[in-house]
Amino acid sequence: MSEERAMRQSNEITGYRRDHESQPPYLYPDYQSTRLRAPDRPLVILPHTLTEVTGPVYGHGKVGPLDNDLTRQHAGEPLGERIIVKGRVLDGDGRPVRNSLIEVWQANAAGRYTHHNDQHPAPLDPNFSGAGRCLTDGEGRYRFMTVKPGAYPWKNHPNAWRPAHIHFSLFGPAFATRLVTQMYFPGDPLFDQDPIFQSVNDPKARERMISRFDLGATEPEWALAFDFDIVLRGRDATPVEKNHT
Ligand SMILES: [Fe+2]
Repeated sequence: MSEERAMRQSNEITGYRRDHESQPPYLYPDYQSTRLRAPDRPLVILPHTLTEVTGPVYGHGKVGPLDNDLTRQHAGEPLGERIIVKGRVLDGDGRPVRNSLIEVWQANAAGRYTHHNDQHPAPLDPNFSGAGRCLTDGEGRYRFMTVKPGAYPWKNHPNAWRPAHIHFSLFGPAFATRLVTQMYFPGDPLFDQDPIFQSVNDPKARERMISRFDLGATEPEWALAFDFDIVLRGRDATPVEKNHT
């Protein structure tokens, strides 16, 4: 495409909805790493041009049929409470986001990550790596089989523990819809002391980070189920995790 034509098209492009005020701030002093990572100058608002609105594009070929089953990546089964995590990905207008890549990562049932930075005294599980991915279907639905992650300590403040959570990374249809967030479990007793959860100020937005137990989707004698819809951008957007690694 000629540069001139690309410019002309970009002028006609409708951008995605911008961040809403319910998103957490970049700087939240109780969450210590935000003090180092938060930008200290006002953000520059970039226009949504062809680049932001059309990429990236992934083919189906690279995502394997078992990539969404974290319990079948090794010779044996991982320890822990087997769960199904599923839901829909929606855009800022409530429409399904189809054929869109979702990646997840999480601690094992004992609260330990398979990562050299995590050395706290909980056991690793040789049958659990804790990472998976899938594409949404034609109605924006996704589904993972995994085990429920344990809570884990971190050194943010004295005796700090993270509520059980699963990290989600979504690309949506374009770079401008990229979303990294964490899914929590209903009724977790650790919410009140967790500055990452608390950095989302709006109570309704916090609710959007908590999955819903779904008895109807459980598999008898096999797995519990949690439902977690994700909204990319706009007023009802799922809060973005802006600082966690
Ligand atoms: Fe984590």
